[in-house]
Amino acid sequence: MDCTTESQNIIIDVHVSDETPTNVQLELRKGLESTPRRLPTKYLYDDRGSELFESICELPEYYQTRTERHLLNQYADQIMSLTKAEELVELGSGAATKTRVLLDAMAQANQLRFYVPFDVSEGIVRRVAQELVKEYKGLHVHGVVGDFLTHLEHIPDGGRRLVVILGGTIGNLDSQSALNFVSSIHAEMASGDFFLLGVQLETSIKRIEAAYNDSTGVTAAFNKNILNVMHEMFGATLNPDTFDHVALYNKTDHRIEMRLRSKESQCVEIPGLDFSFELEKGEDILTEISTKYDHPRAEKLLKQSGFDMIKWYSDSEELIGLALARKP
Ligand SMILES: C[S@@+](CC[C@H](N)C(=O)[O-])C[C@H]1O[C@@H](n2cnc3c(N)ncnc32)[C@H](O)[C@@H]1O
Repeated sequence: MDCTTESQNIIIDVHVSDETPTNVQLELRKGLESTPRRLPTKYLYDDRGSELFESICELPEYYQTRTERHLLNQYADQIMSLTKAEELVELGSGAATKTRVLLDAMAQANQLRFYVPFDVSEGIVRRVAQELVKEYKGLHVHGVVGDFLTHLEHIPDGGRRLVVILGGTIGNLDSQSALNFVSSIHAEMASGDFFLLGVQLETSIKRIEAAYNDSTGVTAAFNKNILNVMHEMFGATLNPDTFDHVALYNKTDHRIEMRLRSKESQCVEIPGLDFSFELEKGEDILTEISTKYDHPRAEKLLKQSGFDMIKWYSDSEELIGLALARKP
C-alpha cells in the first residue's frame, strides 16, 4: 500500500500506486493499439476531471443525477429498513452528493456507523471524508483510494454492509467487464449483505445524446481533460485543441460512446510509455462508454454474479433504475 493517513474518525488508505509501472504501461499501450484506440475511463477523473463531473451533474441536459436523487429520496428509508445496514460502502463515490440521502436515512434509523468512499481520485475521497465527519456526528469514514477493478479486497470490514454503485458508473464497463466486476464485489461480501446498483435506462436517443453534448461545453471539457492527464502523467503530446468531443449512441451495444476525434493527422509521442503512434485526421480515441440498461438486463447481471434481486425501483419515465440485491 502506498500510505495510510488518519485523523479523528477518518482513515484514508491509498492504493493507486500499488500498480507496477509495467502494468500501467501495458494497460495503456494495449488500449492505444486497439481499434478504435482507447484510453481507460478512470483517467478522466483527476481532481480537475472530478470537478468537471460535478458540474456535469448540475447541467439541465444531464437528467440522470436529479432523477437518481429523486428516487433515492423516495426509497432511502425503505432501503435502510430492509437492509439494516450499518456500513455504507460506495464504489466510485465521487463527490458523494446523493450519498447524503442514504446517510440521512441511516442516521434517522440510528444505523449509521461507517462510510467507505472508494474512488480512484484521491482529492475527492479526502474532501468527502472531511465534509462527512463534520456533517454526521459520530460517523467513521474509512476512505479507499484505488481502482475498484483491482483493489476491491482493500474494502475494510465493518458492520452489516450495504455496497452501492450510483451515477451510472457500472455503465462505464462493457457487459463482460461488468459481470466480472459485480461477481468480484459479490465475492468480497458476506452472506446477507446487500448491494444497491444504480443503472441508467435506455430512453430516447435524442435525450441521451443531449445529456453528453451540453450546450455550454462542460462535457467536452471533461472529455478533453483526459489528454491533460496523459500529458501530466506520461508526457503525451496530445493537444486538446487538436481534438473534437464526440458523443454518439451505439444502438447495438446500448451505449453512449464518448470519443475524441483528431482534427488533423498527427504523430503522438508518449515518452512515459516509450510509445508513439500516428493518428489520422478524423480518427477517434474512445474515452468512455456509458451503457444503458433495462430491468431484465440489470436483473440478469445481478443473478449471473450470484445476487438475488429483491427490489426494483424506477421513476415514472423509466430513466433510472435502482436494483436492491442480497447475497444469499
Ligand atoms: C460517473 S462518476 C459517479 C460519481 C458519483 N457516484 C455520482 O453518482 O455522481 C464515476 C466515479 O467513479 C470513479 N471511478 C471511475 N473509474 C474508477 C475505477 N476504476 N476505480 C475507482 N473509481 C473509479 C470516478 O473517479 C468517479 O468519481
